[in-house]
Order: sequence, then C-alpha cells, then structure tokens
Amino acid sequence: MELISFKKLIEKTCGLTFEESRETALISGIKTRLAATGISDENRYFSRILADKEEFHRLIDLLTINETYFFREPSYINLFAEKVLPSFLQKQPVGKKIHVLSAGCSTGEEPYSLAMALSEKFGPGFKKIVSIHGADIDHGALNHARVGRYRRHSFRNISETLKGRYFFSEEAGLFGITDEIKGSVFFHQFNLLQDAVPAGIPPLHVIFYRNVSIYFSPEIQQAIFSKLAESLIPGGYLFVGAGETLSHNSGVLPLVEMEGIFVFHKSSSENLKEDSQSPKSAASASRPLTLRAVANHHTTHGFKPSRQYKTPTNSTDGVASEGRFEGIPEEILSLLRDEKYSTARQKVDEMLRLAPDNHVLTLYKAGILVNLGEFDETDRLCRILLKAAPLCLEAYLLLGLSSKARGDEIFALKCFKDALYVQSSCWFARFQLAEIHRNRGKARQAKDEYQAVIDLLDHEPDADSQLAKFPLLFHPAQIRQICALQILRIGKGV
Ligand SMILES: C[S@@+](CC[C@H](N)C(=O)[O-])C[C@H]1O[C@@H](n2cnc3c(N)ncnc32)[C@H](O)[C@@H]1O
Repeated sequence: MELISFKKLIEKTCGLTFEESRETALISGIKTRLAATGISDENRYFSRILADKEEFHRLIDLLTINETYFFREPSYINLFAEKVLPSFLQKQPVGKKIHVLSAGCSTGEEPYSLAMALSEKFGPGFKKIVSIHGADIDHGALNHARVGRYRRHSFRNISETLKGRYFFSEEAGLFGITDEIKGSVFFHQFNLLQDAVPAGIPPLHVIFYRNVSIYFSPEIQQAIFSKLAESLIPGGYLFVGAGETLSHNSGVLPLVEMEGIFVFHKSSSENLKEDSQSPKSAASASRPLTLRAVANHHTTHGFKPSRQYKTPTNSTDGVASEGRFEGIPEEILSLLRDEKYSTARQKVDEMLRLAPDNHVLTLYKAGILVNLGEFDETDRLCRILLKAAPLCLEAYLLLGLSSKARGDEIFALKCFKDALYVQSSCWFARFQLAEIHRNRGKARQAKDEYQAVIDLLDHEPDADSQLAKFPLLFHPAQIRQICALQILRIGKGV
C-alpha cells in the first residue's frame, strides 16, 4: 500500500508520525475505513479524506494511541494537588477560579484523577475553586470520557479506597465514575497542532501534557510546547511525563524542581525573588528527603502493604522472617504520603508496642525519624537492625541517609559503600554516592556514579523491583532523569 501521502497529510495536520514500526497500525486503520466506506482502493480513499473532514477524523480516531489509566505517575498528581494548586489559592482573588487543562486526555483518566485528588484534598467544594478541562483530538476517546465508564485496565494504579469512593459497579467488570467527579471535568475536542488549547478556555494555571509528545517529531514537539507555554499565565506550571522532560528542556520554559520532581514553570516577577516556598531551579536543585514518594511508589508498582515484607535472602539474614507483623497498613502509608510524620510515628509506635521485634516496623520508624530530623534515634535503630542482621541493606541505606542529612558525608560514603557490598546492583546507594561526590566537588567521580546509576536502571533486570523491598525514595524514572541532568551539568561545568 502506498503510504507516503497518508503519512505526510497526517503529520502535517495533527503531528502524528508513522515510522516503520508503526506502519502496520496505519495500514490497518486505512483498511478498516476502506471496508466501512466501501471505497475500493487507498488512492480513492485518500481523495475522500482530503475532501471530507469527518472521514479524516474517523481515520485519525483509529490511529491515536489512547493508553492511559487512573493515577498514572501519581507523584505528579500529588504535587499538583498538594503544592501547586494550594500555592495559587493563596494568591487567587475570591470568586476567581484556577484553570487546569489535561491536553491529550484520551479517555479521561488523567483529568478525573486530578479531580479525585482535589476532592480528597479539599472535599467536594473543590469545583468552586478549580475548573478542570480535558481535551483530545480523538472523538471516540472523548465520548468514552464523557460517559465515564471504565474497565479493569484503567484501575491498575488506583487504591481500593479511592476506587470505592469514586466509582460504582455497573455490569460485570464495568465501573462508572460518580456524578460528582464526572461533572467536574469539561471535555473538548481539539487539535494540539492547530489550536494549542481549546477555544474559549481562559488562560491556564496548570497544563498536564503527559505521554502525548512521544508520537511527534522533535520539531512538532517544540512548536506545540511553545504554544502551550504561551497559554499559561505567568507563574503557571506545565507537567510533561517523566520520560519527556529532557526533550522539552530547550529553554522555552525554565525547569524547576519541587519535591524531587521536575516541572516546567513560567516565570512571574513574583517568583523571581527566591524564597523558601519557591520551587528550586533545576540548576540549584537539592532533593528533599521524603518518605512520601515511598508511599506513592508502593501504589505505583502495586506494592501491597498487607503482604509479608520480604528482603533478598542475602540482605537481612532472615530478619524479615522473624517479624510477626503482616505489613504496613494503608493508614500509615497514607500519613506518609501526606507528610504527617509525627502522626505516622505515633501509629508505628503503637504497633511496635504490640510487636516490638518487628523489623519492618523498625525500618519504617527509622525512615520516619530521618524525616523528622531525629538522626541519633535513626542511627540507634539502624544499628539494632544491623546487629541482628549484619547484611541488612536497608539499614545501611537509612544510616547513610541520616549521616548525610547530619552533614557527616564521610560516614555516609562508608554506609553507601557498605550497602554496595551487600548488593552491588543497588542503584540507590550509587545515586547517593554520586550526590555526595558532587557536593564535595568531585565531578569525575560523581559523573561516573551517575552514569553507573543509569546503566543499572537500564540493564539490571531487578533494578525496578529493588524499591519494592524497602521504602526507598523516588521513582526510578525520576532518578534516571536527575542523573542525566546532572551529567549534562557536570559536562557544562555547572
Ligand atoms: C497516550 S494518550 C495520553 C493520555 C494521558 N495524557 C496520560 O498521560 O495518560 C495520548 C493522547 O494524545 C492524543 N493526541 C495525539 N495527537 C493529538 C493532537 N494533535 N491533538 C490532541 N490530542 C492528540 C491522542 O488522541 C491520545 O488520546
């Protein structure tokens, strides 16, 4: 089948490229429409789509990739609900709404996730302060979004609590979203390449544009990103997917770091004056230590807190098997997500009273104490764990984190090296070594370690699952991204 003219038209009109690996999808779409229209060959069909806009859109609907699910990359959604939106609310005149767009929203899971996160944070009244828009080129996907009924694959990353709160079971395997959430999102059909944002939407405070640009050429990516940046108010935020950040870091918008996550932030005269509340520019970024990402990560990767904790057999020397406690309850994970460390500590203490020898709880307590700045007690707990199990990887990591936070970089280096003796593929230990070398001005060693982290994340089959064994910090994709940025900066002598 002659595809060149189809490819050119589709790329010029809506940005989608069809390299060799995706040609079969294009052929299959054309064949489906040939059968539906009764047109005998592709040349005639090509003339038809040139003349008939609706038929062209029917073809496009078959060619878009609509993969999405609720709470995809949840750390971005948390950052939006917990930090970004509240920062606007402080400044927003009463009665004026905050406007948010999910550009390339597919079947609606992304904007509905934003609405659920806001409902969790502010209660049902969030609709009075925020308006959420979802927009996509694909008519079929938008219809699906407006109906708001979803099957199992959309729920792969949402907690049972949220699913129970915001969905009701319809027929077998099908769940409808509640009217409260459905009514809070406005859907629009648009073409990013032509419209940037749907007509009639006021200037935007936040744009989510995630997992859309991957199907565009670099030139088109750049053009769309620039137009989206123009549609933001000064001080607005643009979220792209973790894997898309570097390709958009071309100077159109500054990249800033908040809570260990990189987002694009349109400057306003106000936030040029850096204060402690302002996001850090990527160039001066230092990542806060937080267990919140830990709790998020558990959701991301399907970690079930009710499961018996397991560590690699060479890691804890049987420590885990001695624990009687069956897991970390959702209540505690949720407190960690909300950074309510003092309350989390009280809960863990209550549980430790019932199961004083439980090592998983002890590890969690040590992690909470690092966040509370109680480093001596963290160290004491880690040493108890190491006495019981000299190969407890997680205790070395926590001891290293605590020493690093106290400013004892030499001892922290030792702890992270010890962690590597226990498990040489532990990319998190290597990442910490890289950060310490960088702090100490040892650029070459830092660069080597950052590169080692990237290699481990790319090539170690169990790199990702290392995080399931104990609450480590950050999502591997974010760590990889940070390492790549740091290598670039070191290369530029920054
Ligand atoms: C993979 S989905 C991403 C969904 C969601 N943002 C997420 O991260 O889960 C990509 C969406 O981008 C939409 N899209 C592709 N090209 C577009 C264009 N030119 N204008 C508007 N939407 C487009 C597709 O229809 C598809 O629904």
